[in-house]
Amino acid sequence: MRRVVCNGERLVVREVTEDDVTALHAIYGDPAATQHVPFAPRSLPEVAGLVDDAMEAAAAEPRRLYVLAVIDAGRHNVIGVARLRVEAEHPHSAEIGFGLHRDQWGRGIGTDLVRLLLSFGFKQLGLHRIWGARSPANLPAQLAMLTAGMVEEGRIRHHVHTPHGWRDSIAHSAIEGEWTER
Ligand SMILES: CC(C)(COP(=O)(O)OP(=O)(O)OC[C@H]1O[C@@H](n2cnc3c(N)ncnc32)[C@H](O)[C@@H]1OP(=O)(O)O)[C@@H](O)C(=O)NCCC(=O)NCCS
Repeated sequence: MRRVVCNGERLVVREVTEDDVTALHAIYGDPAATQHVPFAPRSLPEVAGLVDDAMEAAAAEPRRLYVLAVIDAGRHNVIGVARLRVEAEHPHSAEIGFGLHRDQWGRGIGTDLVRLLLSFGFKQLGLHRIWGARSPANLPAQLAMLTAGMVEEGRIRHHVHTPHGWRDSIAHSAIEGEWTER
């Protein structure tokens, strides 16, 4: 299994491990950080289960799922989580998701993270298309993806089921040729 590490200026993304469970729970278990995602805040055992699943998926061949811890390059602590899932039927394409601990918001780190995920997907994985879906109300995610070069594609009606009912998503994407020219 190839262990993923991808370095940016302020951030590093790398494989999640059991040691990350508490730091990831500070994000997945936070009502503020999960307000725009389709699931309720996760408990610590649920996050431990997600990490187990992620490590199992990392060993799959072919590999489809990358769950990555986001590390502050200077302080070396876990400040976020990112996912990239290669589509089984369309392996040139992958969906990304990302979240940061709330004390990191509003300093451009989310935008840097999206850029790093695009770089990882296009350069290291050789993908052609990378897309992400956000809640229509998620302005920081919208701006982070737009600034990083992911254009808005349109609305996916009733894309996800949330604890509050069906929710539309707005899809963003980047295409390899367009992105590398930026
Ligand atoms: C989405 C998320 C990663 C963005 O991270 P971030 O580090 O705060 O984003 P940035 O600082 O790069 O800001 C991105 C843009 O949003 C703007 N922004 C950030 N927080 C904002 C807020 N609360 N209200 C309005 N605009 C905001 C910034 O000004 C910036 O705009 P610009 O590019 O025009 O300057 C972060 O809000 C988060 O972790 N949210 C919870 C999880 C989540 O919703 N994930 C996305 C699922 S699709």
